Amino acid sequence: MAVLNVNIDHVATVRQARRTDEPDPVWAAAECELAGANGITIHLRQDRRHICDRDVWLLKETVACKLNLEMCMAEPIVKIAEEIKPEQVTLVPEKRAELTTEGGLDCVKYKKRLAEVVKRMHKKGILVSTFIAPDKEQIIATAQTGCDAIELHTGMYANARRQRAIKKRLTELEVGKDLAMKNKLVVHAGHGLTYRNIAGVARIKGLCEFNIGHSIIARAVFVGIRQATAEMIKLIDKFSS
Ligand code: PXP
Repeated sequence: MAVLNVNIDHVATVRQARRTDEPDPVWAAAECELAGANGITIHLRQDRRHICDRDVWLLKETVACKLNLEMCMAEPIVKIAEEIKPEQVTLVPEKRAELTTEGGLDCVKYKKRLAEVVKRMHKKGILVSTFIAPDKEQIIATAQTGCDAIELHTGMYANARRQRAIKKRLTELEVGKDLAMKNKLVVHAGHGLTYRNIAGVARIKGLCEFNIGHSIIARAVFVGIRQATAEMIKLIDKFSS
């Protein structure tokens, strides 16, 4: 059965809109955990537009479930990960102008750097996942660098509107998942997943972890973050069992 990590970046985004101290992502993480989340995901961006260093340090102390730190491979960020030692890092590309992470990491182009980062994370006992498109070359390159897992980018699936396009994107994810598993990678998925589209990906056998942020935090505005998290877990359980 697949599990849910809640991405709480958006809680910090609301706080940063006023540069104040509320809402606190540390509180949000506790609520998600109380609702049964498997993990908490945060992205420490180089520009610190939402999650700040203080959040990462406090969450490392307070999160009892899995702490998954999304990050790019820039040296200052890699050094922070080495100090904080989250259970898992998910390596993502980062562009300063983007609203959210746009594409997957190019593990073919950055294979040498990726291998270095994987080695350093493993030295600290940190699991490494890469956020990539369901693309053969990317999956093989990731496997060759010694990564533990991949997170398949579900953005194209989430953006598909017609049934044929949805089916095509699901097939790509399924094929990518099979290839990754053959190469001994654990397979996660995320980006753009919502209460409406989770069923399609949750039905893919072998996907074991979903990272979901925007949709859960959006719902939380109306029903509270504990209920919003619990509702998503219920859907994942229903379709992935
Ligand atoms: N996975 C990764 C690697 C991401 O960068 C993001 C966005 O921060 C997510 C999952 C969550 O995406 P969403 O907010 O669309 O659920």
